[in-house]
Amino acid sequence: MVHNGIIENYMEIKEFLVSQGVRFRSETDTEVVAQLLAYYYGKTGDMMSAVYRVLDRIEGAYALGILSADMPDSFIAARKDAPLLLGYGEGCSFIASDVTAIIKHTRDISYMEDGEVALVKAGAITVFDALGRQMEKEHSFVDWDVSAAEKGGYAHFMFKEIMEQPEAVRKTISPRIKEGRVAFEELKLEPDYIRGLKKIFIVACGSSYHVGVVGKYNLERLLRRPVDVMLASEFRYADPLVDEDTLVIVISQSGETLDTMAALRMAKSLGARILSIVNVVGSSIARESDDVLYTWAGPEIAVATTKAYSTQLVLLNMLGLYFGDLMGSVSPAEYSDIVWELLDLPAKMERVLENTEEIKYLASRYFNHNSIFFIGRHLDYALGLEGSLKLKEISYIHCEAYASGELKHGTISLIENGTLVVALCTYAPLFEKSLSNIVEVKARGADIVALTTNSRSRELSKTVENILSIPDTHMLLQPSLGVVPLQLFAYYVALHRGCDIDKPRNLAKSVTVE
Ligand code: M6R
Repeated sequence: MVHNGIIENYMEIKEFLVSQGVRFRSETDTEVVAQLLAYYYGKTGDMMSAVYRVLDRIEGAYALGILSADMPDSFIAARKDAPLLLGYGEGCSFIASDVTAIIKHTRDISYMEDGEVALVKAGAITVFDALGRQMEKEHSFVDWDVSAAEKGGYAHFMFKEIMEQPEAVRKTISPRIKEGRVAFEELKLEPDYIRGLKKIFIVACGSSYHVGVVGKYNLERLLRRPVDVMLASEFRYADPLVDEDTLVIVISQSGETLDTMAALRMAKSLGARILSIVNVVGSSIARESDDVLYTWAGPEIAVATTKAYSTQLVLLNMLGLYFGDLMGSVSPAEYSDIVWELLDLPAKMERVLENTEEIKYLASRYFNHNSIFFIGRHLDYALGLEGSLKLKEISYIHCEAYASGELKHGTISLIENGTLVVALCTYAPLFEKSLSNIVEVKARGADIVALTTNSRSRELSKTVENILSIPDTHMLLQPSLGVVPLQLFAYYVALHRGCDIDKPRNLAKSVTVE
């Protein structure tokens, strides 16, 4: 048995099976399912009915693949609250949690729904509903290019995906800008509903949440309405103030993150409309949302997200522009300015990717630090959250992101001679404030790596020796360029430390458990 997920009542089932004389070989919840299946199979002599009895009894989240020596030409698949898809090949069949695992073999797939059970044979799959009735499954065609899920000469998927960002961002933006206007033809939200919106919640996990933090700042500025951002794992237990007048924007690369999915369902049950920003077409979050905006990042294989983050970010900013225009809260001049800068972003990202020498040098100089702080204000704080997560997840260095204004409320006591502080100073309106925070930590002996825009780098060089400089763009879009050197810094540091960059320890690409 292959099991993805968690069986919540496994202890109780285990006690029952032990009382029946079953001997266990491991401590896993997965073995409990396998043993329970063997138990019912022994009683019924029929594998399919034994599977249904198991599914009736187990609680929790699971995607199951079941093989038995008594069924040498087939296997059984079942799911509840964990992703599972079926792949139809020529003379072969597949099950997988993520489409990227099988696109090399087939792009003809179906998504299994909760309660369904599939009997899978080479070249033939029969699906049954929760009551055991045979049913027809809708097929989806995955149009991702197979080569996009291969390394194509790069040492790591992460590096390849960093390099693919200009193209991914271009593909996400350009079909949605027509004659200088943001056009979301796929949106079903009515203009009157958008104009009447009282509140927006952005809900997500990890890097997708960090996109939401940028979104909170930018959407509040563009819409002049309250925008809240919450971690999905907190939102679902927080009893949030959500009702029919709330729009919940759910962000997820995989479209399968369990906490995000649970938050979506809860918000829906409270009457909110759900608009999701998702990368994987047909994924669970996409299917359960009222509206979906797809990021056209293509398959992302490395656990550390890069191009999905970047495409989510531009899409959320475009949404802010679109809503702001309908609400009349964004001036025509600022609207055109942002659209113009959006269109220019891919070329500017390419320029950042062409100048990596300084980043490589700084990574070689600082890779053996044990603790690194990212500081910044406003959008630079949001950027620091992402830069710090990127570095810690792939290099295993302890990193923290702090809002610079909070330093003197505690964190500054951690700064001593040689502590590395990555100071983010790309948000123009607060440049001077950020500069004084740099002076503060420098005075306590910190080594500084500063990230700023080309227009400010000369000024900053009077205070800081190590400067990474990025092209200027509209201030609300600056994190789209700022994140690229931070991704590369994390990558090169992890490379020096000999880490498993694409598959960092203890992490999974799609987090389908709570
Ligand atoms: O697929 P999702 O966007 O819902 O995933 C959310 C997080 O698990 C994900 O962003 C995670 O934090 C990444 N490993 C960060 O690089």
